[in-house]
Amino acid sequence: MMSDSAEIKEEDARKKTWADLLESTTIALEEKRMFNARVEAHWILEAASGYHREELVMNLKTDAPRLGVKHLNTILDKRLSGEPIQYALGSWSFRKLDLLIDRRVLIPRPETEILVDVAHEYLNQCNQDEPLKVCDLGTGSGAIGLAIAQERDDVEVYLVDVSPDALKVASANLTGLGNHAVKVKVLQSDWFDQIPQHLKDSFQLIVSNPPYIADGEELPPEVANYEPPQALFAGKEGTEDIQSILSSAPTWLSMGGTIILEMAPHQTEYIAEIAANQGYSDVKISNDLAGKERIVSCTWKE
Ligand SMILES: C[S@@+](CC[C@H](N)C(=O)[O-])C[C@H]1O[C@@H](n2cnc3c(N)ncnc32)[C@H](O)[C@@H]1O
Repeated sequence: MMSDSAEIKEEDARKKTWADLLESTTIALEEKRMFNARVEAHWILEAASGYHREELVMNLKTDAPRLGVKHLNTILDKRLSGEPIQYALGSWSFRKLDLLIDRRVLIPRPETEILVDVAHEYLNQCNQDEPLKVCDLGTGSGAIGLAIAQERDDVEVYLVDVSPDALKVASANLTGLGNHAVKVKVLQSDWFDQIPQHLKDSFQLIVSNPPYIADGEELPPEVANYEPPQALFAGKEGTEDIQSILSSAPTWLSMGGTIILEMAPHQTEYIAEIAANQGYSDVKISNDLAGKERIVSCTWKE
């Protein structure tokens, strides 16, 4: 069977400019009723050409090399088959990072970028000569922990995940961090279970975007068919992992240490109440960019 991008392949023999390819890629995506066809076509061409956006615009009239067309077709075929654009491209930006992303990890979301802002707000108030220890629990691609490591000099960051596959992606992303990488360690652990004992009472900050979908909850096909179930589902209620993290965290937080958790908007009030009942103080709910309650943070002072 011919692939959807066969038309572009058949015409490989004739020279095509990037402008021609932008047009044919946009049309192919529009025919599949892709909502953001033109924007996605730009992203695909940027990935295939190696140009940044402005460079691509300046080079639209140049002929695309055969390898560039081949790369474009590979990405386009994946996208036309329904794969999320982030996996089809193989990378996605998160704050100032350009992260390697594939089906072994959750696609980092814009709301999680806000969690990093909340983390900075807290870390900015910490007064300490030693590096501040930060634990990113359920790190996936490494998005949260690596962003914190990249954006500040005063931290030592631990990237923790139970999935060896996810940790391979996080480690690959760590190598892209340059000098900042020396501040980061990668650990395989089922939440806190395999974290070395000497790190008890040591974390000034624990950040986590754990799985928080209830088993059986309906998800868009792009999520359900492609993203790793281990990154999505948390049990019958959806709050099981959050509750488990909250109940174990005091053992690992330093005095006055804080935990910042991302969750679904309908879970925030319930989790804030649980945190307060468990003895956490300064329980706070923060909104995401869409104005929805998304993040619960709380401090352990005992
Ligand atoms: C929702 S994803 C978040 C990924 C990344 N932090 C982000 O925000 O894009 C949840 C992550 O938690 C990990 N995870 C699930 N169960 C875990 C467990 N018991 N211990 C540690 N990590 C776990 C998954 O493998 C997945 O990478």
